Amino acid sequence: RAPVIVAIDGPAGTGKSSTSRAVAARLGLRYLDTGAQYRAAAWWMLGNGVDVRDPAAVAAAAEKPQIVSGTDPAAPTVTVDGADAAGPIRTREVTAAVSAVSAVPEVRARITALQRSIAAESVKNGGIVVEGRDIGTTVLPDADVKIFLTASEEVRAARRSGELKGKDASDLAATQASIARRDAADAGRKVSPLAKAADAIEVDTTELTLEQVIQCVVTLVEEKQ
Ligand code: C5P
Repeated sequence: RAPVIVAIDGPAGTGKSSTSRAVAARLGLRYLDTGAQYRAAAWWMLGNGVDVRDPAAVAAAAEKPQIVSGTDPAAPTVTVDGADAAGPIRTREVTAAVSAVSAVPEVRARITALQRSIAAESVKNGGIVVEGRDIGTTVLPDADVKIFLTASEEVRAARRSGELKGKDASDLAATQASIARRDAADAGRKVSPLAKAADAIEVDTTELTLEQVIQCVVTLVEEKQ
């Protein structure tokens, strides 16, 4: 089979990560979570006294963190200056800071270059599934398959909260508000905003199970191979 590059974009809580990992594992492709790279940059900024609300300060520090991504879909990793960042990048503080950091052009330029080199390298290993916000539009505009995942705001908040049961209503409302804020920031920024590429296939996952979404994407990729 010819190597294949798959771009999966969409807002928070659409199941991008679960879908992308599973598709990569089933098709024997590498996997890159680009959100984890922006989170890693934000985590480094917070830990090194950079004011994330000051774009000039973030820009000045953009080259400093050494972010390394492991692309095995069975065990993806991200390290910053050699330290495992998988846990710390999922904290509420990092989630609240990441959109401000990812909006800074110097940060995007650096991380986009990293993503392109990982994608180019993956071609030797059959290809890669890359998930994010601007993969089909900016990072890999020549990707073989472009998917844009969507879902209703309610369903996305429920998924992000973990599950529909066992969470109280205020928790769900807070999650929904946090997702809405982040999506507005990501879609509204000047450089490389969250957007569906003109040639991306939109998959509305609101009424679909994760397995159905995975199957749908696997079929779309196989049709291209
Ligand atoms: O996918 P995840 O929710 O982990 O992404 C975290 C943040 O990283 C997003 O809210 C966005 O600000 C940024 N991001 C981005 N471009 C990408 C992937 C993520 O700006 N390709």
